[in-house]
Amino acid sequence: MLSRNSSRDDRAELVTLSHFFIFYFYFYFALPMAAARAPGETLHKVVFIGESGTGKTCIIRQYVHAIFQAADKATIGVDFALKVIPPATPGGGSTTLQIWDVAGQERYGQMTQVYYRGAVGAVCVVDATRPETFEAAVHWKSDLDSRVFLPGTTTNIPCILMINKIDLAQCHMSKEEVAAYCQRFNFVASFETSAKTNVGISEGIDTLLKHMERNSPNKSDDSKPKPEGGADKRVDISKPKPPGGGCPC
Ligand code: GTP
Repeated sequence: MLSRNSSRDDRAELVTLSHFFIFYFYFYFALPMAAARAPGETLHKVVFIGESGTGKTCIIRQYVHAIFQAADKATIGVDFALKVIPPATPGGGSTTLQIWDVAGQERYGQMTQVYYRGAVGAVCVVDATRPETFEAAVHWKSDLDSRVFLPGTTTNIPCILMINKIDLAQCHMSKEEVAAYCQRFNFVASFETSAKTNVGISEGIDTLLKHMERNSPNKSDDSKPKPEGGADKRVDISKPKPPGGGCPC
């Protein structure tokens, strides 16, 4: 309880507390209300992970607003965007993606559970010009896989790899090496992308959506991934490379 003559420490505590309540209200009440859907419409939460500066914010802006805006400052904390995907068939329901963008300066392993809670898909972004971001991505992915599961199962959520900034450099790994990397670290697919020239982004998200829809509770049990054995490690590397820069994994 604060006394009438609050000390500087008390005021600092009050500011911290008020920030906490604003944060709490925003993520638990305002955000879900903003994203409330009509019957028949579906809402999916997708989280972006990966090192700082790999292009997560630019990819999201390109996907949601169709612009490339060179980010002048790093994301602080968490940002989010909504993307409404129209129904595939007349009379069908639309799909809304609630896309969460974490600051890459947040360290993997120190992510708050609020960021991951309820996510049903993930995008891990690496930078084609910085091979070290592939190593960091392994840690981000393992943090994700140790903490996020499809509801009521021990199955990890599908995660695609985006190898971004291919307008600047080619990936240092061959297609076979990328496929092996995806298989080893349980990425359901990988895509070479450029937020600047808008390459590979919608193809990547479409593929992620297909994997997410397979896990949807409305699907038959046969098409759902099996919970036994932890992560769903099924990867078909025999498929040809899809148009738009995807890897065959
Ligand atoms: P954090 O917020 O720190 O996590 O970074 P981020 O991963 O969100 O990266 P951001 O989107 O802020 O981009 C970092 C820098 O890379 C910016 O200067 C962007 O303009 C640039 N950038 C992002 N994507 C691309 C791309 O596809 N091509 C090129 N050439 N530059 C890009």
